Amino acid sequence: MRTMQLGTSSLEVPVIAVGCMRIQSLEQAEAEKFVRTALDAGANFFDHADIYGGGRCEEVFADAVHMNDDVRESMILQSKCGIRQGMFDFSKEHILNSVDGILRRLRTDYLDVLLLHRPDALVEPEEVAEAFDQLESSGKVRHFGVSNQNPMQIELLKKYVKQPLVANQLQLSITNATMISSGINVNMENAAAVNRDGSILDYCRLHDITIQPWSPFQYGFFEGVFLGSEKFPELNRKIDEIAAKYGVSNTTIAIAWLLRHPAKLQPVTGTMNLERIQDCCRAADIMLTREEWYDIYRAAGNVLP
Ligand SMILES: NC(=O)c1ccc[n+]([C@@H]2O[C@H](COP(=O)([O-])OP(=O)(O)OC[C@H]3O[C@@H](n4cnc5c(N)ncnc54)[C@H](OP(=O)(O)O)[C@@H]3O)[C@@H](O)[C@H]2O)c1
Repeated sequence: MRTMQLGTSSLEVPVIAVGCMRIQSLEQAEAEKFVRTALDAGANFFDHADIYGGGRCEEVFADAVHMNDDVRESMILQSKCGIRQGMFDFSKEHILNSVDGILRRLRTDYLDVLLLHRPDALVEPEEVAEAFDQLESSGKVRHFGVSNQNPMQIELLKKYVKQPLVANQLQLSITNATMISSGINVNMENAAAVNRDGSILDYCRLHDITIQPWSPFQYGFFEGVFLGSEKFPELNRKIDEIAAKYGVSNTTIAIAWLLRHPAKLQPVTGTMNLERIQDCCRAADIMLTREEWYDIYRAAGNVLP
């Protein structure tokens, strides 16, 4: 699997991250097979969150890999915290408690990467800084990042947090590409020009923060999968045509479209299907042409000015 540097860190990571939000739907034997298949394909970066399955996903994962020191060293583990029932919470106490829970469930004594999951309106960045310092000095967390944050939110954190923020996990797929289309439609009167995220794509490129696109196959907010959907006939025709040309599946092309972006994105897949995770990993070997990338972008209904 092709690798890349995560943000400004020295951590070399596969260009595909394996999301574990849905792993609690698998029986133990299925989960073992799934993780083994991902590892065999070179995908040893796993994305978790304390809230996935109410904590159950992290436990299912640890059972599936039969976690021990050797296993732990063979993989890169990322988790997230900061979402609670009915609120977001970036308080020092909550961050520290969350990480302890994550480590206990994953049966490890450190996380490679911790992300703050979704912006807390009541964030006190001084508290985040204290939590990060404590987690770093205790060895519990090696690298830090955010998720679903815009540039000014990151700037606010950076005023207090001394560790580099290496990743920002954001919703991004062919059918959810407003961070791309607002850049193409600057200053136009159309809806695509609306800048919903403060130019987060350019900001992350400028500051070497790796964007990790989440839900790479979903349209809307978990409304469904666009591949094979009759809601996107033109897009599916185009993806199928390009997939046939490369002799790969439509799944591979959907991920290859994200990987073609020079921002060096690290898509976080969500599939629990053995064939599909392999197909996602195959995308690392495909470099779409500029024409193919724009053909897919337009086939998704995006109009160029
Ligand atoms: N930071 C955040 O706020 C945030 C939010 C959401 C998710 N995440 C992370 O991102 C990861 C990915 O999210 P996601 O699971 O929504 O991503 P996704 O990969 O877009 O969706 C996965 C789901 O779509 C199905 N699917 C994918 N391709 C399909 C196809 N061709 N045909 C039929 N079904 C297909 C999968 O079913 P099969 O299993 O059968 O393939 C699975 O149920 C999560 O695991 C999590 O780690 C982060």
